[in-house]
Amino acid sequence: MKIIRQVTALALFCLPAMAWAQQAKIITIQADKPTVNVSPNMWGIFFEDINFSADGGLYAELVKNRSFEFLKPMMGWKEVRGNGGSGSVLIINRGNENVNNPRFARITVKGNTGYYGLTNEGFRGMGIKKDEQYNFSILARKSEGNVKIKVQLLSADGKTVLGENALQGFTDKWDKYKTSFTANATDAKGQFAILFEGQGVLDIDMVSLFPQHTWKERPGGLRADLAQKLADLHPGFVRFPGGCIVEGRDLANRYQWKKTVGDVNERELIINRWNIEFPYRSAPDYFQSYGLGFFEYFQLAEDIGAEPLPILNCGMACQYNSAEVAPLDQIDPFIQDALDLVEFANGAVTTKWGKLRAAMGHPAPFNLKMMGIGNEQWDVQYLDRYKLFAKAFAAKYPNIKLVTSSGPSPSGDKFDYLQKELRAQKANFLDEHYYQSPDWFMQNASRYDNYDRNSSKIFAGEYAAHAKEPKNAKEAEAMNCWISALAEAAFMTGLERNADVVQMASYAPLLAHVDAWQWRPDLIWFDNLRSVGTPNYYVQQLFSANKGTQVVPALADGNVIAGKDSLYSSATIDKKNNTVIIKLVNTSAKAMPVSLDIKGKINGTGKWTELTSVNLLDINTLDDPKKIYPVEKAINGRSVTLAAHSVNMITYETKL
Ligand code: AHR
Repeated sequence: MKIIRQVTALALFCLPAMAWAQQAKIITIQADKPTVNVSPNMWGIFFEDINFSADGGLYAELVKNRSFEFLKPMMGWKEVRGNGGSGSVLIINRGNENVNNPRFARITVKGNTGYYGLTNEGFRGMGIKKDEQYNFSILARKSEGNVKIKVQLLSADGKTVLGENALQGFTDKWDKYKTSFTANATDAKGQFAILFEGQGVLDIDMVSLFPQHTWKERPGGLRADLAQKLADLHPGFVRFPGGCIVEGRDLANRYQWKKTVGDVNERELIINRWNIEFPYRSAPDYFQSYGLGFFEYFQLAEDIGAEPLPILNCGMACQYNSAEVAPLDQIDPFIQDALDLVEFANGAVTTKWGKLRAAMGHPAPFNLKMMGIGNEQWDVQYLDRYKLFAKAFAAKYPNIKLVTSSGPSPSGDKFDYLQKELRAQKANFLDEHYYQSPDWFMQNASRYDNYDRNSSKIFAGEYAAHAKEPKNAKEAEAMNCWISALAEAAFMTGLERNADVVQMASYAPLLAHVDAWQWRPDLIWFDNLRSVGTPNYYVQQLFSANKGTQVVPALADGNVIAGKDSLYSSATIDKKNNTVIIKLVNTSAKAMPVSLDIKGKINGTGKWTELTSVNLLDINTLDDPKKIYPVEKAINGRSVTLAAHSVNMITYETKL
């Protein structure tokens, strides 16, 4: 970590007094000379089901393996017996009778005393909150005798009942039964028991427990605190569902949106590719129930005022894994899936897929405008397949903008090849990914200054500064340290300055469970009850919530400010609320006095928001979530001293 060592050394030797003695750098903001428009979608979010982001994360279901479809059908479940009760469980596969959800559990309860039951461990425990209501549901069918159910929320050690209720009166037809209860205590690692009493045989499936309080209070919905954190970013778009998960390790494991819509009981569970990706972060219990599926993604995007940006498989599996491709003469079903998705999102309720959208509760269109074809694909096999998609879209949906891959890295042969070829194809958006060092981010703040203004636009679809290779979980959390966020902010001034070329950007990945992550750094970390925005989150929020409508030049000595003397800057005006918005990033270990020479009619004293931290390795944690947090500072006139290692936003009212 060269940068960290350099900067720390400087911090030791540079006395604050020297900084004050420094001459103020004059920054000219040509607020009266707007240049290019900032896309309303400029700053968005990238959602992928990695790190238990969906099941065990944003999707608020508390029961793991609710339909017994994991490779090991009883994973997550344990048998319990008490007070002399006895019984057994048999997993039955009904095959063609229910191809998407073939298994159910047959419970046989013997003896009229005590109970036989199953406990579920949740996703690394269940987050239970005192005084909150929990809603239990189950599909059940009586096979013999008379079995009653008692459902109980239990403490982590299983010794205390935190809430309970009972169900009975099952018939010999499959039906859904529900009951609710309120928790009498909080436990971040609770568990759940379903106890069978009486004598007989009961078949059960889709055993489910949700908090009543979800995002927008939707039954079976999303975890409210996590969805709120996403909304608070004010994203311009939501990219979903990934990422490599789109591609799958092989084609059978790819993401197929049609399998994720309609009745949740009918959504076919598959293994999550991150289950087995990293042996050192093994997650054998990581599957995709698709309770959070394409309808829910569209709905989330709409809820938070963002454009939906689905990325679909292009007939290619992950080239780092099996690298399987569908033959070109068998690519039609993949293209049809993409075309049908437009109908699902936008089609009239009389169309096949529009009708399904309406049946799911959203007759109005979702107004889909863009779609990604493939994730991190490369080489001629991608180009060949992309061309077929492009042709089909040009014929049927010419107004849908297509996002194309430019490979997994921001430079090199693979990147150069696709950039050249796809520009020749007049591709709408090239998706560039960069997981690089903080150094790289700072050095690349000018990356787009010389990009072709009249060619394909750029979607910086996945990026994050990787500060170091972690050796353990603690170090992994430390990867979201201040130096990484500072470097990203420096780089983002370059994206903003080039908003005519870079029209969308999203940090990746978005979410990570502290006990179940596979990839780091990540924008938001959570446990079963709490969540924390990283310093990187607050950088994203600062840019996204204050993007403005047009870029204006920010200059020092007549030049763009992209790293000279460790200073980075970009500026915009916001025509909707008459403000000039100036972002200034000081990556040096010295405080830096600057004097703002703002052209145009400026009113008032201005507002200053600062993000900084003394130590470049500082992080936010669940226990200390605001160590690095935006602070409002008083500003006097046009002179400010930027703290060492700081990200600053200064706004003034203006007459535009
Ligand atoms: O963001 C994590 C992974 O990084 C994505 O799935 C993939 O596209 C990239 O390689």
